Amino acid sequence: MRGYYCFFHFLVVSVLLHFHGGHSQSHACDPTDLAALLAFSDGLDTKGAGLVGWGPNDTSCCSWTGVSCDLGRVVELDLSNRSLSRNTLRGEALAQLGRLSSLRHLDLSANGLTGAFPASGGGGFPAIEVVNVSSNGFTGPHPVFPGAPNLTVLDITNNAFSGGINVTVLCSSPVRILRFSANAFSGDVPAGFGLCKVLTDLFLDGNGLTGSLPKDLYMMPMLRRLSLQEN
Ligand SMILES: *[C@@H]1O[C@H](CO)[C@@H](O)[C@H](O)[C@H]1NC(C)=O
Ligand SMILES: *[C@@H]1O[C@H](CO)[C@@H](O)[C@H](O)[C@H]1NC(C)=O
Ligand SMILES: *[C@@H]1O[C@H](CO)[C@@H](O)[C@H](O)[C@H]1NC(C)=O
Ligand SMILES: *[C@@H]1O[C@H](CO)[C@@H](O)[C@H](O)[C@H]1NC(C)=O
Ligand SMILES: *[C@@H]1O[C@H](CO)[C@@H](O)[C@H](O)[C@H]1NC(C)=O
Repeated sequence: MRGYYCFFHFLVVSVLLHFHGGHSQSHACDPTDLAALLAFSDGLDTKGAGLVGWGPNDTSCCSWTGVSCDLGRVVELDLSNRSLSRNTLRGEALAQLGRLSSLRHLDLSANGLTGAFPASGGGGFPAIEVVNVSSNGFTGPHPVFPGAPNLTVLDITNNAFSGGINVTVLCSSPVRILRFSANAFSGDVPAGFGLCKVLTDLFLDGNGLTGSLPKDLYMMPMLRRLSLQEN
């Protein structure tokens, strides 16, 4: 029994070393993920000096600035405050990021990026959990991720998103934090937030919302912070 246990232990350790070793040597990433990241950076008007390693001549994208991988798949992209300013994201740049099929965290905050966020996340971002695009200059409808069953945090503070708020699709994910402050949303404060059963933080302040407060705003069991001023 003890021999068997030792052998099993050896096997587990070898497997772990193998994965770890492979990862740290090559930093290689999945070819689909590589293509998606390159397509995104091609969609930037000017390459920020903060994008170290990003380029067609370096295919080890797991070691690029801001990129984190798990077993060769990109799971996190943190490009917050990377001086990508004055960049208009062209065409499909963000929809290309949506092809990162294991991406869980996306942080593009504090960059001054402009342009529209593709409607419904461009149909991508299937594994997304946390999105932070705060403090940019994004315009058009706010992003939604209807195909993302695990979305928990969406922070779009301080942009120029406009139109209404799509509560139905937002609350179809297990969202805990919605930060929509300082945008240009208009129309009535939408009903339907009662469907957001695990929402703890709802920030809608600093927009152009009107009307009365819908009843179900008072029926959110987990709500701890609600911010509605300056509407
Ligand atoms: C990539 O490699 C090619 C061929 O070696 C070279 O001509 C080109 O300047 C390189 N590009 C960058 C961005 O380093
Ligand atoms: C961005 O980075 C600069 C310097 O690296 C820092 O001074 C500034 O506070 C940062 N801004 C945010 C919003 O994190
Ligand atoms: C989003 O990023 C900003 C600055 O980069 C940070 O202050 C804020 O806390 C982040 N939002 C969330 C929900 O973590
Ligand atoms: C909300 O988003 C979903 C998914 O993108 C879309 O089908 C629906 O039409 C949107 N609703 C409104 C009111 O915009
Ligand atoms: C959602 O999260 C669960 C639990 O962590 C995980 O098993 C599942 O694969 C995730 N779904 C997607 C589409 O990533």
